[in-house]
Amino acid sequence: MATLISTFWEGIRYRGRESQWAFIFHRISGLAVLAFLALHIVDTATVYFFPALYADAIGLYRSTPFMLGEIGLMAAVIYHGLNGYKIIYLDQQPARWRPAAEARWFWGIVITSVVLWLPGAIIMGRSLYLHNFCRCAPAAAAALPVFPAWANGAIVVSLIAAIVVVARMAAIRVGPGGVRRNFDTWMWLFMRWSGVLLVPLAWVHVLINDVIFGVHAIDLNYVALRWATLGWRVYDMALLAFTFAHGVNGLRYVVTDYVHDAGLKKALNWAMLAGWVIITAIGAVAIIGGVSAK
Ligand code: HEM
Repeated sequence: MATLISTFWEGIRYRGRESQWAFIFHRISGLAVLAFLALHIVDTATVYFFPALYADAIGLYRSTPFMLGEIGLMAAVIYHGLNGYKIIYLDQQPARWRPAAEARWFWGIVITSVVLWLPGAIIMGRSLYLHNFCRCAPAAAAALPVFPAWANGAIVVSLIAAIVVVARMAAIRVGPGGVRRNFDTWMWLFMRWSGVLLVPLAWVHVLINDVIFGVHAIDLNYVALRWATLGWRVYDMALLAFTFAHGVNGLRYVVTDYVHDAGLKKALNWAMLAGWVIITAIGAVAIIGGVSAK
């Protein structure tokens, strides 16, 4: 415990300026999105396991603290994605990295994140005001949103993207004298190549559900309609598989940094593995099973 606390405080006291701020923002945003995602997979799975409870689950997302949290979460996903792309770009050729450019990267990413976040934040903030404060939101349109069938194209796109990611990982050679590929080097590659996929997967999901439709338009019928198109199920399956594995492995990095007791670290690694398997299985069964008529 003492090592954990001292590692944590030394990390805060270190005067690394923009490079360190970028690292801290990346870490906090990744963990925040992971915490939300774990909850979101489980509550969405009620559509299959306990459909009668789904209304309560979605009711939580319509509360003011949750709606505010989702506006913040969108900022976290945007910042983490852009900063993740920077890491991936620089890692491809480390010679591109210049200490002097760190400040420019950091502020460039922060400003771009704000610019991308602001329109969505205004739309979500307006919805929060109309529904939770003035309570004067227009009645929901009777017609359900129609999800275009071209989403079936997502099947092909997801499969191609997954093949490219796996092939790219497998093709990376380790030069003479380089590190032999072990579990950690595989995971290091996975974090980068899954990251490439996560911007389209996670950003589009947030854009459609939180910004375009909004939590007040989401109910059992919405989920049923969405999953009536096979493409959306494949898309959600890819989202579940890549995003949750990426996030849990990121959590493993954080634990490795702060927990130095071998026994505790081993116990936490097993707990994370179990959590990852159980939650992924719950999400996968729900996506395959669809909205239950129970
Ligand atoms: C939106 C696209 C995303 C991109 C481009 C991306 C990229 C990255 C990259 C490159 C890393 C560094 C890995 C390393 O140091 O080896 C990373 C770490 C991490 N990511 Fe992501 N990621 C994305 C989305 C997500 C999502 C949706 C989550 C949550 C489920 C997440 C959670 C994490 C965590 C917890 C870490 C570890 C942070 C740390 O070690 O400080 N990421 N991400």
